[in-house]
Order: sequence, then C-alpha cells, then structure tokens
Amino acid sequence: MLRVDRGAPALDVARIRADFPILQRQVNGHPLVYLDNAASTQKPRQVIDALVDFYTRINANVHRGVHTLSVEATDAYEAARERIGRFIGTDDPNEVVFVRNTTEGLNLVAACWGRANLRPGDEILATQLEHHSNLVPWQRVAQDTGAHIALVRLTPDGLVDLDHLRQLLSPRTRVLAIAHASNVLGTISDVTRIADMAHAVGAIVAVDGAQSVPHLATDVGTLGVDFLAFSGHKMLAPLGSGVLWGRRELLEAMPPFLGGGGMIREVYDDRATWAPLPEKFDAGTPAVADSIGLAAACDYLDELGMANIRTHEIELAGYAMDRLASVPDVTVYGPRDPHGRTAVVSFNLDGVHPHDAGTILDEAGVAVRAGHHCCQPLHRSLDLAATLRASFYVYNTADEVDALVDALAVARRVYQRKTA
Ligand SMILES: Cc1ncc(COP(=O)(O)O)c(C=O)c1O
Repeated sequence: MLRVDRGAPALDVARIRADFPILQRQVNGHPLVYLDNAASTQKPRQVIDALVDFYTRINANVHRGVHTLSVEATDAYEAARERIGRFIGTDDPNEVVFVRNTTEGLNLVAACWGRANLRPGDEILATQLEHHSNLVPWQRVAQDTGAHIALVRLTPDGLVDLDHLRQLLSPRTRVLAIAHASNVLGTISDVTRIADMAHAVGAIVAVDGAQSVPHLATDVGTLGVDFLAFSGHKMLAPLGSGVLWGRRELLEAMPPFLGGGGMIREVYDDRATWAPLPEKFDAGTPAVADSIGLAAACDYLDELGMANIRTHEIELAGYAMDRLASVPDVTVYGPRDPHGRTAVVSFNLDGVHPHDAGTILDEAGVAVRAGHHCCQPLHRSLDLAATLRASFYVYNTADEVDALVDALAVARRVYQRKTA
C-alpha cells in the first residue's frame, strides 16, 4: 500500500477494492489490472446499490405525477441535484444541469450560449490540450456564426503557454475553452489564473472538468469560471450521468438546448415559453436513477476525502512514471512532477504500435488505452500518431504498476524478437 510522508496510508486501498465487485474478475487468466480510469471508472457496490434501490422501491417518472412513486422519484432526483452541487461547491441546485456526459454539457454551452452570443469576427480560444469534446462543438458554432477559433500553444513541458495566451487574448475574444486537466498529459492548468486573464478582456470561460472533478477537490467559486462540465462515469457513477454547472445568470439568459416535455412554461400553436431553471434544461425523461447514482458516488468520494485521493494519486503517478521511465525504449510524455499533473500517464514503446502493445498488455489482464484519446491536435503537435495511456484511481496499487511494467517488458521482448 502506498504511504504518505507521515507514515499513514492516504487511502485504505484493500478496503476500497472490496467495494468493487468487478475487481474480483480475471481477464485472460490473470487478475484484472484496470488502468483505463480516464476513459471510465469501475463502480462500487454503494453506487450499484443506489441504482438497485431506486428501481426496486421507487421507479417512476419525475415532475409528472401526483402519485406517491412519482413524488418520491422527484424528491430523490432533486436531492441528487443538490448533493452533486455541494460536491462542486455550489448550494444553488439551479446551477446544476443534468446531462449525459461532459460532451453533452460542452455542446450545450456551445450551442446555447455560443449561438446566442457569437457574431462574425468574434474569437473563440481553446488550447492544444483539448479533448475533441471541448473543441469540435466550438468549431461547429464558429462555422455557424462566423466566429474564428484559435488554439493556445503548449510549453515544451506540456503546460498551457500563458505568454501565448496573453498574445491571443483581445477584446474580440468571447470564449476561452479549456480542460482543467489533460486526459493525455495529465497537465493540471491554473484555471483560476487563466479565467482572470480571460475575464479581463470580457470573455467567458468554459471548463472541461472530465479529468479534474473526479480527482481534485472542486469549488466552482474558487475556480472563478463560468461553466464546468463533467462525467459521472469517470468518478465511480453510472454511465450516462453527468453535469453541466453554469453561473446562474448565464444559464438564465441562455435559450434552452432541447425542446419538448418538462422544459416549458406554456405552449401555444406556434410558440412556447420556458420553465425556470433547472427544468429549462431538463427536456424529456431524464436519467433519474443514474443521477441518483452520481450523488451516491459523491458520497463515496467525500467519505474517502478528495485530499486523500489526491495524495494517493500523486504517489501512484510518481511511482508509475519512475518505473515506466526505467523500461528501455519507453518514452513517457507530459510534466514529470506528479504534483503538477493527475494520475494519467501516456507513453510509447519504441518501434511497437500502441494498439499492438495494448493487445499484449490485455493478454496479461492489464487494461490500458491505446490511440489518440480524442486529442488529435495534441498528438499532431507532439508529432505522435498515438500513445498508450495508463490512468489510475482510488483502487489502484503500486503492485498494479509493477504488473503493467512486467507486461510491457514482455511486449518489448516479443517485438524485438519479431524484428530481429
Ligand atoms: C478531458 C476530457 N474531456 C471530455 C471527455 C469526454 O467525456 P464523455 O465521453 O464522458 O463525454 C473526456 C473523456 O475521455 C476527457 O478525458
């Protein structure tokens, strides 16, 4: 078990692992070593139980019925909204919009805020680190509105280049789209400082929190941004749960995203008026159980303590980078100081395509990601076609890092034999 300086474990990983039934399974005859957490995390029994409890005791549609089950479902759904809001530091549930995932949240901002506010000649800034989810929606809205999009470069260490950002910011800049943490390099950006710079020219700041909210204690007030989107499935919660947080006055001024049931105040033959927040953005039947599952995940993470999770991940990332760097022919990408990054470690094995290496790792039960990780502009800027990515979470151990390194040594031997 990893230990912090004072000698106490940051997390009781053995106890945590007992909460995750899937970690008992074998893959290709080996114990599962699940290192694909940046793509999606596993679910603890507490979250699975919340889903089972909802479907067993309460299941009904929300906001629609006067009968007991519907009222109970509505109460549980709205309680989940409040709980998740507290997890990110807001006590205004009207600022918490349920979405399916980060992608949907960022598309909502681009479509609703962007179409209402962007004009020809306006500028949208994003960074070279962005996942396609915080780039493609802005490209689409730029094409539709005549706005222009530019990317902030990275420093050689993989950090957002603040000098370049300063050069690009101008009174024409209306939006800065930025990931709080990179899903490839692990880089954590100083979003508070960057938001101050963007606000000084009158731009709004839309943050992709997919890789930060699950790993870093988050307080939207301290971050000082305008929008923050994140995915439940990357923080122990069900697939299909997610949140867009937005400043209330911005959400109130924006047109709705989808039209239909649940989001209207009055409907006439030819027009409609909108419900107040948060219903305005809740068209159709929402993912009620999944949102309740996300609230259960927030309880679970808070019980572990986000500061303890961070300590555990810093130690694991540091250990993984050291061990990987010791394997001949392995190149590790991104900032080397584990304090400036999350526990996402991308690397390559020289001469072996990441998909081939990933397949050999899978034969040893080690699950990693191989590819461009939905960051083609970043990979292009690094002159890479693809990378392997190991990403860690609360249940991962130093032994699993060792299993990864051992399996990588096998991949290296297999390919060296093939090419000899
Ligand atoms: C930084 C980042 N942004 C956005 C996304 C998209 O998340 P989702 O597929 O849950 O919408 C991901 C997922 O990998 C990500 O890592």
